[in-house]
Amino acid sequence: MPTVDLARKPVLEGRLVRLRPFSVDDVPAMAEILSDPEVRRLTGSVESTAEAEEPEPVDERLTSWYATRAEQPDRLDLAVVDLATGRVVGEVVLNELDADARTANLRCLVGPEGRGRGLGTEALRLLCEHALGPAGLRRLTLEVFEFNPRALHVYETLGFVETGRRPDALVFDGVSVGAVDMELTAPTG
Ligand SMILES: CC(C)(COP(=O)(O)OP(=O)(O)OC[C@H]1O[C@@H](n2cnc3c(N)ncnc32)[C@H](O)[C@@H]1OP(=O)(O)O)[C@@H](O)C(=O)NCCC(=O)NCCS
Repeated sequence: MPTVDLARKPVLEGRLVRLRPFSVDDVPAMAEILSDPEVRRLTGSVESTAEAEEPEPVDERLTSWYATRAEQPDRLDLAVVDLATGRVVGEVVLNELDADARTANLRCLVGPEGRGRGLGTEALRLLCEHALGPAGLRRLTLEVFEFNPRALHVYETLGFVETGRRPDALVFDGVSVGAVDMELTAPTG
């Protein structure tokens, strides 16, 4: 049985993007991306339009978060670099590792500069191939809100299948929003 390894932080190169470990130098770019109202709304970080429009503060918490991502033994956070510009446009993450079950949760976000050009799909494909290959995982899970048809489409393109729905996963601007649970399993099971 393969050993699960999220401690090793790889550099994964595609045609459009490079995934690489974070350093503290990425804090300003990530603060800008995390301030994007669409990112804030679609990742469930906020519960109202007013909150979505507040910028992410560049503070000690954010600085320390990105400064320490490359040291985490039980999760994998990689910056998405747009190869056309060399700039960080987002992140892909494996968290909530269950090493015995060989499962982890997947998260991703791409800021406005990178969206709609195929970068997110390629970044997620690279991450899934690594996760279900060298990283030794058997199954990836994720949650996506029903009001995010673009992300749903991308996950389906990558082979994720729906495993359930939760009708009241989030309340946004006072309206209940459902979430879809999805999973992707390694070809060998
Ligand atoms: C979801 C996300 C990672 C996708 O990355 P991206 O770089 O924008 O996506 P891509 O350009 O690679 O692909 C988008 C696909 O969705 C399709 N799409 C765009 N808008 C759509 C919509 N409203 N409904 C259905 N499909 C849509 C595009 O046609 C494209 O599909 P195709 O490759 O088959 O033509 C990115 O948009 C993002 O991070 N958004 C904000 C935060 C977020 O939603 N995170 C995920 C939380 S679960």
